[in-house]
Amino acid sequence: MSEMLNNAIERQTIGILIPMEEEIELLLSLVEIKSEIKIASRTFFNAQFAGKNVVLVKSGIGKVASSFTASLLIHKFGVKSILVTGIAGGIADHVKVGDIAIAIDAVQHDMDCRPLFPQFEVPFTNKSFFKSDPNLTSKLESAAKQFVDTEFDNEVSLETMQQLGIELPKIYLGRLASGDQFIGTFNQWEKIRADVMDTLFVEMEGAAVAQVCHDSGIPWCSIRTISDKSNAMAHVDFNLFLHKAAKIYTAGIVKKFIELL
Ligand code: ADE
Repeated sequence: MSEMLNNAIERQTIGILIPMEEEIELLLSLVEIKSEIKIASRTFFNAQFAGKNVVLVKSGIGKVASSFTASLLIHKFGVKSILVTGIAGGIADHVKVGDIAIAIDAVQHDMDCRPLFPQFEVPFTNKSFFKSDPNLTSKLESAAKQFVDTEFDNEVSLETMQQLGIELPKIYLGRLASGDQFIGTFNQWEKIRADVMDTLFVEMEGAAVAQVCHDSGIPWCSIRTISDKSNAMAHVDFNLFLHKAAKIYTAGIVKKFIELL
């Protein structure tokens, strides 16, 4: 696709799908909300930021909640692309709590219709790995870099960094695995590493949204902050990060991303 056409697509409304209240609340206070529409227990916020139109929504957790929400964003609100964001668990060894992970592709690690279809393949799509949009993904990378370089020190206090045991975030691009499971035991972590090659991070929504976007013919992208290492301490680290830091990263990165669209 030509660059001109790409830019034209991105100037149209983008849907921003975030699973939990704690992740979305700060961002909602920073955009100019034009209207709120309630459908099926969800509030869709039509908003503007940096001269761009966005529809923000808290989806709820899991593949059903997020794919239903993505369908509404596309087919009711007419968004032309979707960003999925919030927090995630690290799977690769080098990814630490507080780092930022961006999806190159996404797979449903609990999709298994063997022997009818190969493991992970979504029946009738001929696909296991759904690629994110390269143009939006490179904008996410730039946005994350800008956030880390210019805002992180002001936004995250030393006290919070010490409490969470985090450092200046590193930014990684790689494979996202999603499924209807919180990954918080050694066995779960090991299984994902053994089953799904090269997984960088894990959460419960992105690959489902990627499938909806694929079926609907629209581009998607995803960026998440690592709240835990998907190990036996994951539930503790997850809650601490969710309440102390998730909204700061999400708002900081998403603001920069919208500016770059
Ligand atoms: N979101 C954040 N941490 C997660 C984990 N360990 N498993 C699944 N989803 C997550």
